[in-house]
Amino acid sequence: MSSAFSTSTARNIFFGGTVFFFLMFLALTFDTQQQLPQRDQRAQLSNPQIAAGKKLWEVNNCIGCHTLMGEGAYFAPELGNVYKRRGPEFIKAWIQAQPTGAPGRRQMPQFNLSDKDIDDLVAFLKYASEINTANWPPNIEG
Ligand code: HEC
Repeated sequence: MSSAFSTSTARNIFFGGTVFFFLMFLALTFDTQQQLPQRDQRAQLSNPQIAAGKKLWEVNNCIGCHTLMGEGAYFAPELGNVYKRRGPEFIKAWIQAQPTGAPGRRQMPQFNLSDKDIDDLVAFLKYASEINTANWPPNIEG
């Protein structure tokens, strides 16, 4: 019994495990480096409409109530995927129709944005919806 698990067995498991997981780490790092450039869509931020929409998203503090890709506040729905869930026409009409005044529902303020501003925001939300987040967040409305 006592010889079944010897010091050398323990040493081999330790070194073998170390080498195995180090190689695994290298392989996964290599895989990540291969995939990242295909996922990087930041070049699109040089598109003036998307850039303007991002600016409007920031100055109006949409993230103070909403999440974008799971990050932000949990007062209102996730918007990273709202373009795919609702489409551009719904988003435009929604922003113009606020506040709904529906009893018992959380309210979104009226931002008094121009048609151009709303189009820019929609372009930004379209851009956000096309980022490959590996289906994050798992709950589509956040
Ligand atoms: C004070 C909090 C607040 C802020 C700030 C805010 N929203 Fe909202 N928003 C809400 C709430 C609450 C809802 C959901 C209301 C409901 O379902 O009745 C909502 C819903 C939405 C929806 C519809 C989501 C869906 O799944 O149907 C869109 C699109 C949206 N907001 C866009 C924006 C944009 C763009 C901004 C920034 C310009 C913004 N919101 C800022 C509170 C906010």
